[in-house]
Amino acid sequence: MPTLTIHHIGYLVKKIDKAVQAFLALGYRIEQDAVYDDIRKVTICFLVKDGYRVELVSPASEDSVVAGLMKKYKNCPYHICYEASDFDADYAWLTANGFIAIDSPTPAPALGGREVVFLNSAVIGIIELLR
Ligand code: NI
Repeated sequence: MPTLTIHHIGYLVKKIDKAVQAFLALGYRIEQDAVYDDIRKVTICFLVKDGYRVELVSPASEDSVVAGLMKKYKNCPYHICYEASDFDADYAWLTANGFIAIDSPTPAPALGGREVVFLNSAVIGIIELLR
């Protein structure tokens, strides 16, 4: 059983500047200004409130990894990211327990280059695992 710590909630938004303003109006503060992830073709901004961290993810082009999700879900939370205590072991444990990798571990520019992998569960949807 891995020890996973919740790192952030990923929130899909179409217009990131307007979304930031809406979260600021709710009392969030900006933890990290918008960063462009050229691997995934998304713009990412981190906000925090009450100990919760929200990651705004906005598609930057038609071939963005979230372009399809954006069409399907519009603006909404769509993943919870878990920080691994032992990435390789935790990743193996998850894939042995119903989570199917939808990409491979890849550096995330918005997280200082730390590796992340996305997995899908048929019963709870998308999660992200952070090394
Ligand atoms: Ni995320």
